[in-house]
Amino acid sequence: MPMTHRTPRVRLGRQAVQELDADLVIVPVSDRDEFPDVPGLAQASGGEAVEARSRGAFSGKPFETLVLGTHGAGWRAPRVALVGVGPAASCTPDVLRRMATTGGLAARAHRLARVAILMRAAIGVTPETAAQALAEGALLANYDGASLKTADHDPVWLEDVQLAGLNGGAPLDAAVERGVVLGEATNQARELANEPGNRLTPRVFAERGAALARAAGLGVEVLDEARIAELEMGLLLSIAQGSQEPPRFLVLRHEPAAAVSNVTLGFIGKGITFDTGGISIKPAENMDKMKDDMSGGAAVIAAMAAIARLKVPVRCLGLVPMSENMPGGRAIKPGDVVTSAEGKTVEILNTDAEGRLVLGDALWYARQLGATHLVDLATLTGACVVALGKTTTGLFGRPQAWVDRVLDATRRAGDRAWPMPIFDDYKELLKSEIADFTNTGGRAGGAITGALFIKEFAGDLPWVHLDIAGTAWAEEAKPYQPKGATGVGVRTLVELALSVPAWAGVEP
Ligand code: BES
Ligand code: MN
Ligand code: ZN
Repeated sequence: MPMTHRTPRVRLGRQAVQELDADLVIVPVSDRDEFPDVPGLAQASGGEAVEARSRGAFSGKPFETLVLGTHGAGWRAPRVALVGVGPAASCTPDVLRRMATTGGLAARAHRLARVAILMRAAIGVTPETAAQALAEGALLANYDGASLKTADHDPVWLEDVQLAGLNGGAPLDAAVERGVVLGEATNQARELANEPGNRLTPRVFAERGAALARAAGLGVEVLDEARIAELEMGLLLSIAQGSQEPPRFLVLRHEPAAAVSNVTLGFIGKGITFDTGGISIKPAENMDKMKDDMSGGAAVIAAMAAIARLKVPVRCLGLVPMSENMPGGRAIKPGDVVTSAEGKTVEILNTDAEGRLVLGDALWYARQLGATHLVDLATLTGACVVALGKTTTGLFGRPQAWVDRVLDATRRAGDRAWPMPIFDDYKELLKSEIADFTNTGGRAGGAITGALFIKEFAGDLPWVHLDIAGTAWAEEAKPYQPKGATGVGVRTLVELALSVPAWAGVEP
């Protein structure tokens, strides 16, 4: 299999900046910065760093990058990359993570494999948080989206990453380790979501997800079409019946011996390996993008693997219903009525609203398996992209305490999300004359009615739905983010699991 990402050695660099042994030193630079704390930098390359600043060629705005030689600075490292972070006072962990990715991508573009990233005192992020963010950022730079090219493609990988300017003991080492695991997990999710639909059918998705999970020490069960039928998952089966490819349902379990007693997190990810729309077929333009319609499922798999690697002392379930949505001869038709595993009936008005159907049966199953708190991730609606754009995830749920915990986790993760309402009276839009409800509520409020449909299957449990239709895929390359799958949601789920011991005893 072509390689899409690699894990470099990441360690704390204890030397002074002049002594750092690297091909490139990456230095975060704020907007009004003359780097008095970085000895030699002002003299590097005949004073070019200072010159470029006064010429206006480098202003220090976020993610602007300038690579210079270090002759004259008295450094062991031959090159330095200045990476803008904007005003020092507003340099958050998020900015640091992106700064590290920007520097790492610049290193690879210059064919340099050994980098040092310098943390500076003027940046008000605590050493532990900074260490994790920098490690994550460096890992995110080590991803290659063009691995299927067979000619003129010879990427350089980061091999060695030193985090310099950070002082501390064991907690810092643990933070670096967390950052590496989280960065790696994000890359694993990106790899799966970038795979074309022909290379990642439901069967292949289940196999590869199972292999990742087993390697991390998770319990793994793959339900095949016969087992799915036994469980009477009529919603999942109705979507799968239009395809030659059989569905799968992946169940992952993290059951540590010393777990928090009263919480079992249930993570559910949409796993549509390709969404044509079915009989309600999508227009040709941009349909190719629908290979990423399993991004939520990929995020759940990668997050579960990271949770196992980090030995988080919390029981977690990861559930991914996997199917194609195809307009085959046996496909469901608008007007069909199908029955969910829970027994509720659904009138299918639009076969393109398939994500909520497969999630409905999956949320029910998460409850059967003993989940106490639910989070689902899904590339669910174009309406959410219209509402919030391509860089903010829509967050729906109840009760408020659970919504707040998940929102906090999205902030720590750098997966920006914004709360959306789930007013009860919108449910009228899903009213059916002949069944319990329909599967679409029309164009107006489309992200909300999608969420309300899923809520029908959450029982009484605390539940959050993350609509990642906009955020799962980057249409444009940014200095800190190449085009393609973003791995959104992976770090959120892991941060959420890491937070459980702090609140589980306090609140049921
Ligand atoms: N996978 C799509 C949602 C989507 C759209 C993701 C654009 C990313 C970009 C989903 O299955 C879908 O088709 N949703 C429909 C729902 C509608 C028929 C109620 C939509 O958004 O149009
Ligand atoms: Mn669809
Ligand atoms: Zn879809």
